[in-house]
Formats: sequence, C-alpha cells, structure tokens
Amino acid sequence: MFERKPVRLDPRIAWFATVRHLLSPMAGVTDRPFRTLCRDHGADLGFCEFTSASGLYYENEQTWRLIDTEGETGRVGIQIFGSDPHHMAAAAALLRARRMDVLDLNFGCPAKKVVRKCGGSALLADLPLLAEITRQVVAAAAPVPVSAKIRTGWDEGSINYGEVGAMLQDLGCVWVTLHGRSRAQKYGGRADWDTIADLVDRLDIPVVGNGDVVDGASYRALVEHTRCHGVMVARGAIGNPWLFAEMKAADAGRRHVPPSFAEMCATTARHIRLEVAQRGEATGCLVVRKHIARCFRGYPGAAHLRRRLYAETTSAGMIAVLAEAARSADPGLGAPETLALEDLAS
Ligand SMILES: Cc1cc2nc3c(=O)[nH]c(=O)nc-3n(C[C@H](O)[C@H](O)[C@H](O)COP(=O)(O)O)c2cc1C
Repeated sequence: MFERKPVRLDPRIAWFATVRHLLSPMAGVTDRPFRTLCRDHGADLGFCEFTSASGLYYENEQTWRLIDTEGETGRVGIQIFGSDPHHMAAAAALLRARRMDVLDLNFGCPAKKVVRKCGGSALLADLPLLAEITRQVVAAAAPVPVSAKIRTGWDEGSINYGEVGAMLQDLGCVWVTLHGRSRAQKYGGRADWDTIADLVDRLDIPVVGNGDVVDGASYRALVEHTRCHGVMVARGAIGNPWLFAEMKAADAGRRHVPPSFAEMCATTARHIRLEVAQRGEATGCLVVRKHIARCFRGYPGAAHLRRRLYAETTSAGMIAVLAEAARSADPGLGAPETLALEDLAS
C-alpha cells in the first residue's frame, strides 16, 4: 500500500475511504455496459458520460438517455456541464431522484462547443460564475454529494487550480479531481503531476489525480508522487478494463497477470451482449467498435481479428468470430467443438 495523505471525508461519502480507482467520465465511451465491464475488473466507481444541464432542463430526450443508471448496483457518478447557474441547479434537482452516488461538476472540458457557451474549462477563467454555479448546485443536489473535476487553469498564463480547489472545498464539494493539464494543452504533452501533489497538500478533502495513467507502473508513480486519495483513468481504460485489476495489484504489491487472448475475446463478447441489450442490435454492434480498436494490442493477428469483427453486422456474427479466434489462439480452451458460445458470455 502506498502512503496517502489523510483526508477529511464528508459523512455522506464515508464509502469513499476505500475508493482508489475511478473510471473517468468520457463522452461517447462510459455508458452503462462499459462501466459494468470496468467494475467487473475492479473499478471502484464509474462515471456516466458528461451531460448538458441545459439539455436536462429542457427535457431533451437524447440527453436524458445518457443518464442510464437506473438499477445500477456499483458506485456510479453523474457529471453535468453548463454555464447557466439556474439550469445547472435545476438539473441537479431533477437528477436527485436518479440512481447515483455523487454528482460531479465538469469544469475541465476543453471542447470548443462547450467552452464557446462558457461551460467546462471556460469557467476556470470566470471564477465568480464558477462559484455561483457550485453554490447553487450543492444546495439543489442535497443530500446528494457534489464533486468537481477541473484542469490546472485556462492556459499557462492563468494557472489557478489552487485557488479553484480551495474555493470548491469551501463551497461544499466533497472531493476535487484534477487533470494535470490546462485547457490550452487539451490532451497534448505530459500531465503535470506536480500540480496534483500541490493540490493534495493544500486541501483537506480528497484529491483525485488524473492524467496519463495507463498501467500499474504509471499508477504507482502518480500515487507516490502526489499522495492523492484516488486515481481516475480515462484513455488507458478504453479497450483495457483490466487496467483496474492492474492498479489493484499495484496497491497490494502483487504482480499483475495480464488477460489471456481468450479472456480478451470473452470480455469483448460480454461487452457486445451488454451493448446490444442496452441499445439494440445495430447501434450496440457499432458502439463496441471503438473499444475493439484498442483491444488485443500486441497480439499477433490483432489487426486481422479487428477487420473481421468490423466486417460483421450482427452480434451473433461478431461473437462467432471471437469464439473462433479464442479457440485457435488458446489451446487451453479445449477442442473447438467443445467451446460453446456461452463460454464467451461469462
Ligand atoms: C473520448 C474522451 C471523452 C472525454 N469525456 C469527458 C467527459 O465527458 N467529462 C470529463 O470530465 N472529461 C472527459 N474527458 C477527459 C478525461 O476524463 C480525462 O480527464 C483525460 O482524458 C485525462 O485522463 P487520461 O490521461 O487518463 O486519459 C474525455 C476524454 C476522452 C479521451
């Protein structure tokens, strides 16, 4: 176990004491099936894709569809973005009845369509508005706890994560996640973990570190460098939900055993089934492709397998391809005729 800074936990998130490995919110990626897979492999908490507060406020059906947490059994967070305090607070009040463990405020999104309307990371350049939104959302969401996800600042000339973090703590946020890049950096260069270490020192509430954790070694390095309470991973988990098991192994000082090719096939088959159950056959098969694009890396024949999967238009076809690939690659699975497709759905 690594040394972590002792923190002050809001009693509403007593459960957060043992939360170390979090799945980031990722638009177009962290739907319910993917959150489920990540939890299967050890994620302590998963976030929904970020959601427009105005879309929720105006009852946009597509926006509400992103809130897919009904009956979800593991820890789950919902994240909202926007720049209108009234819409943000109204969305928080509407969401209160939904299944969630925390409501997160997005103050980090660098996307043009979000910052143009002064949402996401644009709020790092307008602290009075950021404070007003936080104040109203914390009040409207109660008793649901509110967290926030920020970047280091708008650009290199206006790094203000320390001021923003202290403000969020004072306004009642229960934890702050810091992605160690400014808005101007978008996803380029290296995340600056010194900023995360500094924020950990400054705040009493938990700080969750985020940026460039892709395996057990980088996880360990981030925690050792910063003493942060938890680590949030995004890109590294796409096509690799086993990253959570790897982080857990690092915590326990155990060697991580990477998944076999057959396990990858089985998990991908499960993913396809979950997506199809949630979204229907056609969309489910399409959505899972972005995960397949990042899975099977380093295995001989991975590119060929992906091409074959992309050529299939039905879930049954995709799962049959996976079954065949698993059989031919892993003699331990037994003779082809003894491997039922159901074996891949576990
Ligand atoms: C495809 C994609 C979608 C993302 N969507 C969101 C989002 O909805 N909300 C958010 O706070 N961050 C979002 N992010 C940023 C990530 O949560 C994370 O902060 C960033 O990728 C750095 O972490 P990483 O190095 O582990 O990828 C997104 C990132 C990616 C790659």
